[in-house]
Amino acid sequence: MTDRRPYIGGNWKMNTNRETAATLTRDVVEAIGDRASRVDVAVFPPFPYLLTVGAVLRERNSPITLGAQDLWLNPDGAFTGEVSAEMLEDCGVRPVLAGHSERRQVIGEADELVNLKVRRTLEAGLDCVLCVGETLEQRDAGETDKVNERQVRAGLAEVTPAQMPRVVIAYEPVWAIGTGKTATPDDAQDAHAKIRSVLTDLYGQHLADATRIIYGGSMKPGNAAELIAQPDIDGGLIGGASLKGADFGQIVAAAAG
Ligand code: PGA
Repeated sequence: MTDRRPYIGGNWKMNTNRETAATLTRDVVEAIGDRASRVDVAVFPPFPYLLTVGAVLRERNSPITLGAQDLWLNPDGAFTGEVSAEMLEDCGVRPVLAGHSERRQVIGEADELVNLKVRRTLEAGLDCVLCVGETLEQRDAGETDKVNERQVRAGLAEVTPAQMPRVVIAYEPVWAIGTGKTATPDDAQDAHAKIRSVLTDLYGQHLADATRIIYGGSMKPGNAAELIAQPDIDGGLIGGASLKGADFGQIVAAAAG
């Protein structure tokens, strides 16, 4: 990590309930203390608990940002089961995830839809965390860089330079997500550096240098510091370890330096 401000996101996925979401938020606020002044911290609870989590953050006067895990492309209308950027904003959301591998792999979202969601998020004035990463099969076939490059280029198609300061890229090797396996700091650094060179090609050196590229995939208190110490790793997107306030707090502490 260089002079980019670190970014740590807690992706709660489909976990917690109304009560434990509130408790976890309090625990996270407590565990992070004043470190949020040196790190951008966001939590991404399930939709039904956004208001609950937002209320706890406000009540504690916390700088932690409320994020959402997904959105749909239209502001309103006949889209059963979907949630719009406008609704999220109304609930106090700022950042929205796009292209998470669980949505790509389990729900079947392709690069084109991911790109539409990225653009919708940015057009609505929200921030976007675009997730990319290779599967084990692709890594074994030596396609890691090719896959990342394709997902970054496709995900950012028609995203303007002026919008880029509101974009964070999360490199999440699919084989490392929720498996306890982590990319080695060297492998992760290598993937991040390649992603940054794709950003340089798309937006020039200055914007590429300013964009946070965070790592996701079994990041935890025991490995966060050495990952974040790499020059092109600017933080993390945390799944499992974000469900324990103390663990998440330690990862934020590692990023705060
Ligand atoms: P994990 O999830 O930390 O549980 O591996 C990371 C993610 O999917 O964002």
